[in-house]
Amino acid sequence: MNEHSTNTVIHTLLNRRSIRHFAPEPIDPDIVDLLERAAQQAASSQFLNDWSAIRITDDGLKRALADIGNQDYIAQAPLLYVFVVDEHRNLAIARHAADGGTTAAADSPTLNVSYRYIQGQNDATLALQSMETAANALGLGCVILGSVLNDANRLIDLLHLPELTYPVLALAIGKPAESPALKPRMPRRMQFFDNAYPGDDATILESVGEFDATLHHYYDLRHADRPVGPFSDQIAKASTDEGPLIRPVAPIAARQGFDLSR
Ligand SMILES: Cc1cc2nc3c(=O)[nH]c(=O)nc-3n(C[C@H](O)[C@H](O)[C@H](O)COP(=O)(O)O)c2cc1C
Repeated sequence: MNEHSTNTVIHTLLNRRSIRHFAPEPIDPDIVDLLERAAQQAASSQFLNDWSAIRITDDGLKRALADIGNQDYIAQAPLLYVFVVDEHRNLAIARHAADGGTTAAADSPTLNVSYRYIQGQNDATLALQSMETAANALGLGCVILGSVLNDANRLIDLLHLPELTYPVLALAIGKPAESPALKPRMPRRMQFFDNAYPGDDATILESVGEFDATLHHYYDLRHADRPVGPFSDQIAKASTDEGPLIRPVAPIAARQGFDLSR
């Protein structure tokens, strides 16, 4: 506890957690307006504004995304967005400007390079995070959804995503119908370092046993019927995972016109 911990923004941030059950109530349009403005006000690298968000309002489309993600709560989300990298708009703007004679850059071949792709990923993620925080601040719950990328090709087809766009993440928002415990985070000394990365992995590893125990306790309380292995084991498993959670990126980005080798 310190004197600032009662600040409402800090309170919202320190109490954020994923919500996966929503009350079946629509979200007020005024709130939707605020959430979208908050997302737009996020920082943007070089002010390229290289992201867009698709509102998924069609129930059939929500169902299709839930099927891709294999997570039923996606279909139940009162508000659902898919954030995308968007250099398509920038190419159109650049061409338009060139047509009007304000710039020589008629066909910008660099909008498809890896750094532009990463800028778009960063910007889209920051915008999504701002929307999540705004929603939380207004008492709504959210879950970020990487699962919609289980079949990125299908998602691209469903949303008609054109050249130089790429799906980043979805965000489901609604009035919470559950109140899960906060998920513990690792001891800060494992994640924050002074001035340089520790030269010795022992510094990182000295607290991992403590975190295994903390998380084990959390999972025991949350899923007493479904034991979850220690955090270290989960990471060990993820480190050798070859399954569907290792989602292909470069080939699908190439289909969308990006060249991630440049
Ligand atoms: C990039 C990203 C993708 C995620 N994808 C999913 C997802 O597809 N489904 C889901 O239920 N949770 C998803 N999550 C939520 C994480 O599981 C969750 O943030 C993490 O377990 C920590 O729990 P907490 O958010 O409650 O603190 C995702 C989170 C991030 C940052």
